[in-house]
Amino acid sequence: MEHQLVIVLDFGGQYNQLIARRVRECGVYCEVKSYKTPLEELAARKPIGIIFTGGPNSVYDEKSPHIGKEIFDLGIPILGICYGAQLMAYTLGGKVSPCDASEYGKTDTHYDHSSVLFGGIALPETATSWMSHNDFVSELPAGFRTTATTSKCPNAAFEDASRKLYAVQFHPEVNHTFAGLGMIDSFVKNVCGAIGDWTMAGYAKAVIAQLREKIGDGKVLLGLSGGVDSSVAAALLAKAVGDQLTCIFVDHGFMRKNEGDEVEAAFKDSGMHFVRVDAKEAFMSKLRGVSDPEQKRKIIGEEFVRTFERAKKDVGKVDFLVQGTIYPDVIESGAGDASTIKSHHNVGGLPEDVDFEIVEPLRMLFKDEVRKLGQELGLSPLLVWRQPFPGPGLAIRIIGEITDEKLDTLREADAIFREEIANAGMDKDISQYFAVLTNVRSVGVMGDARTYDYTVALRAVTTTDFMTANFAEIPYPTLALTASRIVNEVKNVNRVVYDVTTKPPATIEWE
Ligand code: XMP
Repeated sequence: MEHQLVIVLDFGGQYNQLIARRVRECGVYCEVKSYKTPLEELAARKPIGIIFTGGPNSVYDEKSPHIGKEIFDLGIPILGICYGAQLMAYTLGGKVSPCDASEYGKTDTHYDHSSVLFGGIALPETATSWMSHNDFVSELPAGFRTTATTSKCPNAAFEDASRKLYAVQFHPEVNHTFAGLGMIDSFVKNVCGAIGDWTMAGYAKAVIAQLREKIGDGKVLLGLSGGVDSSVAAALLAKAVGDQLTCIFVDHGFMRKNEGDEVEAAFKDSGMHFVRVDAKEAFMSKLRGVSDPEQKRKIIGEEFVRTFERAKKDVGKVDFLVQGTIYPDVIESGAGDASTIKSHHNVGGLPEDVDFEIVEPLRMLFKDEVRKLGQELGLSPLLVWRQPFPGPGLAIRIIGEITDEKLDTLREADAIFREEIANAGMDKDISQYFAVLTNVRSVGVMGDARTYDYTVALRAVTTTDFMTANFAEIPYPTLALTASRIVNEVKNVNRVVYDVTTKPPATIEWE
């Protein structure tokens, strides 16, 4: 069954992805498309509604994104947000002017409850909205009326209900706007007529059916890292095409304790061909004597590509390559959901003469939606809730040269830290947490004897985008217990420190 669709038309705002996600929270499927998407293409998708996003520009700037009037004649309900609201007003003959002083942040907003957006929800007549604009709509186009105001913005919301055109200057998609989700829900349900029947279970079913149709009896290859995204993509493809799928899992030997086996166990009985390449020796032999972080990364990257290539040869001809790309990875929105590979795409080290298609079944989803989908598909919680893990693995968490002994030491220390964080019930609140084996040795005392052993550093951060991060405020008793267990249970470690630097200036990983 075709699902009802709302299209978010992207004008370059920072919250585009969030708007799409909010619409899905209302139980309606949603996709983000570039504002450059041809009108016929948009109309052909038969959306029940369109939402214009915000954007950093000014409608009067020639270079800013514009849109033809015709979109307003399609009869499809439209909600304009921020720049999208100004664009709607400007395109339909209203006037947009610069603010005397820009309006930014939480703003008292007075709502007219006779608007369908604001009337049917628990929203006081005056409530907080989140504003971020330098221009405002100073004159409405013909047929529109004002439905919200602030002290600085006479048209904080406006509409022409007869044409199903709605606009808000503020951002209903961010949590700071009181009842913002309710406003979006009102738009999609009461204006667009959404049934709200979109669920992750339904989505999984629909995607599986689409994949089956697309792939037919073709052969599919997937490079499995054991991370959430590639694991969920693998589970999806396994359900869709079963034994036409081959997953190659390059085990470089730098996974955390038991992780390689857990990945293998999770996929062994799924019907797909699962190839685990044990490449530990090859990686270690290339890394012997190497201590420079960049060189380590380079060697691991190259060896990974070579190993994947060798394993791929055994699979024979492949028609599709699956990638676990998720929405935040998609740089250019509006691109099609399948494209022929180009030589500069370095996907698990593809040679330049390949001519198979890339399949990206998670392209429209956010991380937490991917996890939900994984749960829906019955994927092991170990994989669904796995924290991000760098491709080079523990190799970049051992400062300096890597040895088997150091790997063992780090694996044990890291496992203890993870266990204690889970015992403290903090595992889902901290974005990433791990142990690092520094190459600092220091003096300690154990029993009556002097020791001269390694220092383990614990790193735990909270972040939303991994570009900036704070260190996690782990309670002292948890840190104390972790430190005590590590020095007692792990050989060659006599000191544990906690890393309390933010990113920037530090990075999350130590190498
Ligand atoms: P940094 O250390 O740059 O890390 O603050 C930011 C995030 O990226 C992860 N990371 C990697 N992920 N391959 C990956 O797939 C890599 O080479 C790599 N290096 C860092 C890191 O774990 C953190 O989540």
